Amino acid sequence: MKINTSWLLMLVIALGIILLNFYAFQLPISTLPSPSESLFPRPIAFHRHSSPHTVLTPPPSPPLPPTPPPPKQPITKPTPPVQPTVQPQHPLDAPSLDPQRKGGCKLTGTAPENVVALLVITCKRPDYLKRSLDGILKYLPSDHKVGDMEYCLIISQDCDESGIDRLLATEPYASRISGHIKHPGFLKVPPTGPEYLIEPKLAAYEAISKHYKWALGQIFDTMKFASAVVLEEDIDVAPDFFEYFSSLIPILRQDSSLFCISAWNDNGFGGVVEDPKALYRTDIFPGLGWALTRQLWDELRDKWARAYWDEFMRLPRIRNRRQCIRPEISRTYHFGEKGGVSEGQFQPTHLSRIKINTTPVKWTEMDLTNMLKKRYDADLQQAITESKFIKSPQSLESMTEKDLTKADGSPMDVKLAYGNEEDFVSIARRYQLMEEWKEKLPRTSYKGVVVFRFRKARVFLCPNAVAHDPATLTLL
Ligand code: UD1
Ligand code: MN
Repeated sequence: MKINTSWLLMLVIALGIILLNFYAFQLPISTLPSPSESLFPRPIAFHRHSSPHTVLTPPPSPPLPPTPPPPKQPITKPTPPVQPTVQPQHPLDAPSLDPQRKGGCKLTGTAPENVVALLVITCKRPDYLKRSLDGILKYLPSDHKVGDMEYCLIISQDCDESGIDRLLATEPYASRISGHIKHPGFLKVPPTGPEYLIEPKLAAYEAISKHYKWALGQIFDTMKFASAVVLEEDIDVAPDFFEYFSSLIPILRQDSSLFCISAWNDNGFGGVVEDPKALYRTDIFPGLGWALTRQLWDELRDKWARAYWDEFMRLPRIRNRRQCIRPEISRTYHFGEKGGVSEGQFQPTHLSRIKINTTPVKWTEMDLTNMLKKRYDADLQQAITESKFIKSPQSLESMTEKDLTKADGSPMDVKLAYGNEEDFVSIARRYQLMEEWKEKLPRTSYKGVVVFRFRKARVFLCPNAVAHDPATLTLL
């Protein structure tokens, strides 16, 4: 039989195809592409923040409104230089700075180190601004000098509220403020994108953050102050507020382990504070009347929070293992109940219970070098070591004020231990302290230790390890 070559060729090809298919289906699973190597990557989960004061990670400042993707350019054509968009100037744009207003408050050039900007953030509550300015001007001498420092009062306004202009045009405000600056980019109408429909509050918190960024930029970048004390228009100041900052700002400058000086104790409730002279370090940014240096601003300017700027200040990567100094008895009081972004939510339950100091301390005559890190840490460790260990809150409560008083008549130091957050919360609730943790740390704590008073005795509420071996503090 004569073999037909074309038939033979077809037979060989068919055999080849059969063999190829057979081997393909026999491939071990490991050689197949895994789901993660799929050509279709998984969609990225959309993460949002739910409530203002639980939000700890503001998104890494996407601009608002979001910038559209750049138009595609043909490869051969060089990209034309981008023209900066010139924002139309708002009538309120020109900052009304008056360099001549107050002695040392020359607002051009670099302010000397001892000239501090006293920045009051405001928006649309002229009656509140009046109350806070009345307090400030009551305790700030007419030459604006306290200790070695001189204060320039600058009001930064966000909203279009003519009542503020009218107030600041009257005496004594007109002659005692060094500047009334107005944020040009304020939001007259809140944005209404889908993000804001879900979380309308976000817009207000974004507006505040934007205002802060602009105002701090004016203070440090334009006016070149070396340091600033920041207040809001719903805050009262204590009689020794300026003494406090005049003596602590030099410490802030000197010690790079300090992040800020704050006038506020988050646990400064009447009944659990006692000593007007006591100061502490805290790992949790307290805000509400606080000082920062230009160095810190240089660090934060480009990463500033899109919203919730105070939570941003508490982020570990921002705080970077530094602390703020805070008093035992607050030197400020937050009275804003109406028209606030948090709608006075915490005012009756927490903020109104915070005691403001009424016994002025001559801070500028005190040596505060014990607040420098090395000394502070050593003193704290010693105080905790020497304090009496109390095994439970019940045992503490069974002790009278006399039991808690030393032979020389001064109040004792005692320590209580907590094991974990749940344990801490139950003790905090018992003494009406703030239960809330920020970034895995209890409010007001330093190295996990919270200090409060019980029947005048100073209580160190310590993590278990610290209570049992205070030397552990050096490891934290
Ligand atoms: C809370 C904080 C406040 C912080 C704010 C932002 C307390 C008691 N207060 O605000 O320190 O700054 O969250 O996270 O914890 N403002 C503007 N632009 C606006 C709206 C408000 O600049 O569009 C100003 C207000 O004038 C005020 C400040 O922002 O000086 C805070 O606003 P307020 O309404 O008092 O809100 P709080 O709930 O106290
Ligand atoms: Mn407020």
